[in-house]
Amino acid sequence: MNRIDFHAHILPGADHGSGSIDTSRRQLMLMRDAGVSAVVATPHFYPHRQRAESFLRMREQTVAELRQSLPEGAPLIYVGAEVLVCPGMHEMEGLDQLTVRGTNLLLLEMPTTAWNRALLDTVEEIREAGFHPVMAHIDRYPMEEVKKLLARGLSVQLNATAFSGLFGGKVYRQLIGTGSVVALGSDLHGSDPAGYQPFLKALKRLGGEANTVFERTAALLQGAIALQEEAPALLHT
Ligand SMILES: [Fe+2]
Repeated sequence: MNRIDFHAHILPGADHGSGSIDTSRRQLMLMRDAGVSAVVATPHFYPHRQRAESFLRMREQTVAELRQSLPEGAPLIYVGAEVLVCPGMHEMEGLDQLTVRGTNLLLLEMPTTAWNRALLDTVEEIREAGFHPVMAHIDRYPMEEVKKLLARGLSVQLNATAFSGLFGGKVYRQLIGTGSVVALGSDLHGSDPAGYQPFLKALKRLGGEANTVFERTAALLQGAIALQEEAPALLHT
């Protein structure tokens, strides 16, 4: 069974997830050792701080650096972004470049402030524009708010830590049963092995339910272009 980590900050220097090639390599080795077959690299994109164009240029550079230093047996790496939603974002130039490369999947992060109508409408507009929004780590928000996303039939991603609480994330396990949960993620920052433990623990706790989610993720990722599969830049010149 494919184990897919859909949310991780592993591109060297792209955000605070990894400050160096060495850290990224160690992150990938942690994943490899955990039996992860594919990971989506999701550096933070903050629309109020940067333009998509400069973000993409920076991301390309980190991808090129990482491509040259991949550890033996590294999981397949898909390149995406974790995009903070702001009202009106559906009209932002370059949004289509922030999807998981080769797909229409867009990992959207909701703000921690209250979600007003304009924000929720923006998510819908993004979907209507042909994207498949995946709402990042919904376990981090009050369930009352999350229900607004679920009521609109949106796909969601859970962080592994959702299952480490006292009740083992019972409410989130029920959500897996409904089909809304399309991806699991470690949301890994840094290369401390302890940082990857929750992902492993979640897999153990979820058993077959995790496989159900991984099957959904794999289906959504069909056609995605892995970093390892991209032609070297030189061939294009
Ligand atoms: Fe994240």
